[in-house]
Amino acid sequence: MSSSCALCVTSLLSCSSTRRRGRSSSVSKGQDAEWWRSAVIYQVYPRSFADGNGDGTGDLAGVRQHLGYLRDLGVDAIWFTPWYVSPLADGGYDVADYRAIDPQFGTLAEAEALIAEARELGIRTIVDVVPNHVSAEHPWFRDALAAGPGSPERERFWFRPGRGEGGEELPTRWVSDFQGTTWTRTTDPDGTPGEWYLHLFAPSQPDLNWDHPDVRREHEEILRFWFDRGAAGIRIDSAALLVKDPALPEVPEHPGPGEHPHVDRDELHDVYRAWRAVADSYDEPRVLVGEVWLPDTDRFTRFLRPDEMHTAFNFDFMARPWDAKALRESITTTLDAHAPVGAPATWVLSNHDVTRPVTRYGRADSSFAFAAKRFGTPTDLDLGRRRARAAALLVAALPGALYVYQGDELGLPEVEDLPRELIQDPMHDRSGGIDPGRDGCRVPLPWTRGGSSFGFGPDGGAPPWLPQPAAWGGLSVEAQDADLASTLALYRRALAARRTEPALHDRRLRWLDAVGDVPVGDDVLAFARGGGPGTPGLVCVVNLGPEPVPLPADADVVLHSADPREPLARIATDVAVWLRP
Ligand code: NOJ
Repeated sequence: MSSSCALCVTSLLSCSSTRRRGRSSSVSKGQDAEWWRSAVIYQVYPRSFADGNGDGTGDLAGVRQHLGYLRDLGVDAIWFTPWYVSPLADGGYDVADYRAIDPQFGTLAEAEALIAEARELGIRTIVDVVPNHVSAEHPWFRDALAAGPGSPERERFWFRPGRGEGGEELPTRWVSDFQGTTWTRTTDPDGTPGEWYLHLFAPSQPDLNWDHPDVRREHEEILRFWFDRGAAGIRIDSAALLVKDPALPEVPEHPGPGEHPHVDRDELHDVYRAWRAVADSYDEPRVLVGEVWLPDTDRFTRFLRPDEMHTAFNFDFMARPWDAKALRESITTTLDAHAPVGAPATWVLSNHDVTRPVTRYGRADSSFAFAAKRFGTPTDLDLGRRRARAAALLVAALPGALYVYQGDELGLPEVEDLPRELIQDPMHDRSGGIDPGRDGCRVPLPWTRGGSSFGFGPDGGAPPWLPQPAAWGGLSVEAQDADLASTLALYRRALAARRTEPALHDRRLRWLDAVGDVPVGDDVLAFARGGGPGTPGLVCVVNLGPEPVPLPADADVVLHSADPREPLARIATDVAVWLRP
């Protein structure tokens, strides 16, 4: 066993201060400009994190009450999904005013206070910018509707006459990311059917025209607005979709690189180069994080060239099944693709759009695809929980930045029995009720064992905007806080060790086919981080095979995902271990 308390399972069981070690209490200006290369970034979905005012909806007051929790968890930054004024037709990704906080969440002054308070605790803030579309309630879109066909106001969007004699046919047959068409027809003031407008998502989210100088200027100003308020960076929503081929052709059957009319167009890179210049103009350069869903890793990493984004979410890894070959391949491809551009990889197990890992990994098909989501998929939650714990240690041991979606540190499962009439996600509605949608991973967090909303809001307050399962008290922060075998305890230990373990600060990873004197097969992931003269290095072993793997002789177990109260004799199926060989 290691003598270091921060890395020793036994002593960690009794050491509550460990998780605060290794971090400065506040972030000072100019400190660690490359923090984003290895940061742990916690995603807050404000609507569901904590409800400070008791109206049933999470808010900034709730987040401010729990900043200490996030500090103790060991995160470096918080990414807030949109908190701006919005009709919340798509959970806030339908923004009506990018410079104001939605009154349900609080005020701009509260956001400023939150950013400053978090910073005092050593936590940076990343805000979500939604550049592809606005809310239909945004003043620009209202003006465009009012101004009518041919007006300059409409040029900021994609208004087109319909095809066919009466203009009743869709301008293109593009398919929306939320299913169905991407066009909605307007009605002229005299009541006759008018032009159509483009929306890659819901009709309440009209797409902006990124060829228009107003659109580019406005977004650079929005960036400055939040950077001036202390935001350390932005998460860029739907980052590969902004630019469209102005001829609006149909989507070719097999589009080559840059040939798709609305995905991954080459002109996008100019937008992000301009944004990078804005981010770099600050004394402490701000960080650009892209939401880039692209199957081609080389096209993906083009967004990460040194004068574009700093990082982008690695969805390839997230979508892979719990299978050693698939995960090894994804890790290798990811690291190989990032190396030439010098950008760090990111590791993401989930977010507010995808099925929670505990549920996903408990299924016969443990991969993730939006199109495959269905009600009633059989799930073994015990299996899923074991694997999700192992996955947490796996991703925490990989080189790069780590994202943790709120509630994953509690091992929350997807809530799959929400009453249909309460589901708000447009993906559910637009699928004709076939796709369960994404609300199952957005259910308000449980903070306490009891209380009318398990501590999400004040006791006796309005019920949470989505109902929590009756058993969630047992998964609450309070229930897990002092339980050394809890998923929360595992996350705290892993994030503490990520800070204090020098081997994990090394950018390299070496695959191993043996751990010490023990050879490992194809269904076991084994890799080393760091190590060299005078530094011991760290080995991560994840057993995805059916047979237990013996521990190498004399191995020093730093951390493992099995029950820490029992001695670890062998690495059982679906267990991850960090070792010092
Ligand atoms: C990606 C966001 O993560 C998702 O929640 C949203 O619905 C779409 N972009 C559209 O903004």
